[in-house]
Amino acid sequence: MIWNLGSINIDKFYGVTHHPAGGETLAAHSFSEGLGGKGANMSVAVARAAAPVSHIGAIGREGRWTRDRLLEYGVDTPHIHEIDVPTGHANIVVDAEGENTIVLFQGANVRLTESMIGAALSEASAGDILLMQNETNGQEYASHTAQKLGLRVAYAAAPFDADAVARLVDRIDIMVLNAIEAAQLEEATGAPLLALGIRDVVVTLGADGCKWISDQGERAFEAYPAQPVDTTGAGDTFTGYLLAGLDRGLGMEVSIDLALKAGTLMVMRHGTADVIPDLKEIQDHFGL
Ligand code: RIB
Ligand code: NA
Repeated sequence: MIWNLGSINIDKFYGVTHHPAGGETLAAHSFSEGLGGKGANMSVAVARAAAPVSHIGAIGREGRWTRDRLLEYGVDTPHIHEIDVPTGHANIVVDAEGENTIVLFQGANVRLTESMIGAALSEASAGDILLMQNETNGQEYASHTAQKLGLRVAYAAAPFDADAVARLVDRIDIMVLNAIEAAQLEEATGAPLLALGIRDVVVTLGADGCKWISDQGERAFEAYPAQPVDTTGAGDTFTGYLLAGLDRGLGMEVSIDLALKAGTLMVMRHGTADVIPDLKEIQDHFGL
């Protein structure tokens, strides 16, 4: 079982020819709204990858539909709290190359309390996985509690924050980050990733696949070819699939392969949580 302490956002997508410069007003050629947030995207990816997941998070009243939708997608929602603060939202601008910029309003995502997190984790069992990102508060308390309970702690260090990583690093068993974040972390700590003492680190490399760093050394995985139209949510999908695989006992290699395939399909689709592929779609596309 995966307990995902994670953000829930209302994603607003604007399609543009190029990213606006300072002072420029630019008309978008398309607009759509959907379920997102790094946390929600990962929960949906876990569910699509056929592992059980309970989301720990907070939304405002106007965002009730986001919880309904998570439930519809197979995510357990009793620990998603409705509070008197607006739901988080993200303005996502995607250009003709599929590159995005995101302006984030954190809202309810950073109003979690220790009692909300504690109540959720009191239902967890040893061997379960706590998953976290950087779009909520409460990671320190959650990881302490999880460690005491014998959970494995997984952390996707996005959006990157060197101080947050430094505070958590001793309690992380599995870390997922991209190449830029990995370089920032090595610069901040002045040490190679391997020296952090995290059992498994997976660094995503976009079109170059990913690498897995553990005490067994470093192992590279090639990417599957794709023509990207929108990279938003691909990293979250990768992480959700990876953790789902590990939770299902599939082993690191097989889990990474599924994660790469899911991420590949994601960059070929517009949108975030609403378009995360399931195992059947992966099978249809890649053949298994
Ligand atoms: O990683 C993609 C996500 O980042 C989007 O869904 C958006 O909500 C932002 O949090
Ligand atoms: Na996408």
